[in-house]
Amino acid sequence: MAARNRMPPWHEHIRLPNGREVLIRPVRPEDAEPMRAAFPLLQPEEIRQRFLHPMKELSGHDLEHLVRPDPHRDFALVAAEPLPPGEALVGAVARIAIESNGKNAEFAILVSHYINGMGLGRRMMRKLVRWARGRKVLRIYGDVLESNLPMQSLAGSLGFHRESADEAGLVRMVLDLPPPKPKLLRPPLAPTA
Ligand SMILES: CC(C)(COP(=O)(O)OP(=O)(O)OC[C@H]1O[C@@H](n2cnc3c(N)ncnc32)[C@H](O)[C@@H]1OP(=O)(O)O)[C@@H](O)C(=O)NCCC(=O)NCCS
Repeated sequence: MAARNRMPPWHEHIRLPNGREVLIRPVRPEDAEPMRAAFPLLQPEEIRQRFLHPMKELSGHDLEHLVRPDPHRDFALVAAEPLPPGEALVGAVARIAIESNGKNAEFAILVSHYINGMGLGRRMMRKLVRWARGRKVLRIYGDVLESNLPMQSLAGSLGFHRESADEAGLVRMVLDLPPPKPKLLRPPLAPTA
């Protein structure tokens, strides 16, 4: 039988239109250092669009939060060089966190300008949605700057709609997921004579 080159769950190898190879995979604790080192290379505007305020660096606390998602309620993907975590430069991070009610989940994503505009944002968002569906989440949302038309357009293309956010200057992009179908109960076995 031919050996299958199976990728681990949530891994996807991609060749971008510019020839660059990237691996989409779950974030690993070893990604913290490359992410910290690459943060100053981001443009102030993309940082503001992702974190909704300006930031000069990622604190140790922020990094820990990003690279050690709680496996029960959080999921975070990176798009990185296809090298061992820790060596690989990380070019994009997408995460989703389920709220304590178990029904709502908030997403956030940053695809750096080095690799944006090549389909990674949509791929990573799709994976977040798939993960959330699997966790029986009913509503996915993300707060986005009103001026951030690329993210609104991307979310809209995936079926998200706009709602007003709690803060001025933001819009909330929301995707309602159908509730999971109830499991069919098997009829009781007929008693044997
Ligand atoms: C928004 C963002 C995630 C898009 O990622 P990306 O990898 O460039 O997205 P894709 O290449 O998959 O494009 C998907 C769609 O996004 C929209 N889009 C992407 N770039 C766009 C641009 N410059 N102008 C308008 N729409 C754009 C389009 O609808 C596009 O679909 P199309 O290619 O069929 O037209 C990325 O630009 C980013 O990280 N921005 C900074 C951080 C941010 O805004 N985060 C969101 C708040 S949490």
